[in-house]
Amino acid sequence: MTQLLKSLDDTKAFATDLAKTLTSGDWISLVGELGSGKTTFVHYLCEALGVSDEVHSPTFTLVNCYQGRQFRVIHMDLYRLDHEVDMANLDIDGYLNQDQTIVLIEWADKLTLELPEPISIQLSYVDETTRAVQIKVPE
Ligand SMILES: Nc1ncnc2c1ncn2[C@@H]1O[C@H](COP(=O)(O)OP(=O)(O)OP(=O)(O)O)[C@@H](O)[C@H]1O
Ligand SMILES: [Mg+2]
Repeated sequence: MTQLLKSLDDTKAFATDLAKTLTSGDWISLVGELGSGKTTFVHYLCEALGVSDEVHSPTFTLVNCYQGRQFRVIHMDLYRLDHEVDMANLDIDGYLNQDQTIVLIEWADKLTLELPEPISIQLSYVDETTRAVQIKVPE
């Protein structure tokens, strides 16, 4: 299903609604070109989960970890990741098996590992204030 997010408020509402459905061990794959709104979505999702830390893209550190009300949130950005060995070192599986943890991965289309099916979010730029989002949730 594709929907239009016509403003930051729409993106916030979309993230807030999704936050209510999350359970421990869920992971969200975020795919979309530069500036399509992946980090902005993560920011609003974290806010809805009660994260008080500042959320920014972990482009250089690769992994950020935030504590929300109920969940720990692991935020990864694979944009700069080129080597499979680095990917293995991220130990994504390890995070997925931890208690009360949600994993969010920007540029997840670069993953070469076998992982459980994610909540898949595809974002694309429509115009300055509008993004299109497609979400697919595992059955
Ligand atoms: N409806 C909208 N939803 C999300 N972001 C929007 C929207 N309208 C405008 N924007 C702006 O678009 C930009 C999206 O940037 P953001 O860093 O979230 O993208 P990104 O997909 O994470 O990019 P990158 O691949 O570089 O990490 C922000 O400046 C944000 O304010
Ligand atoms: Mg980003």
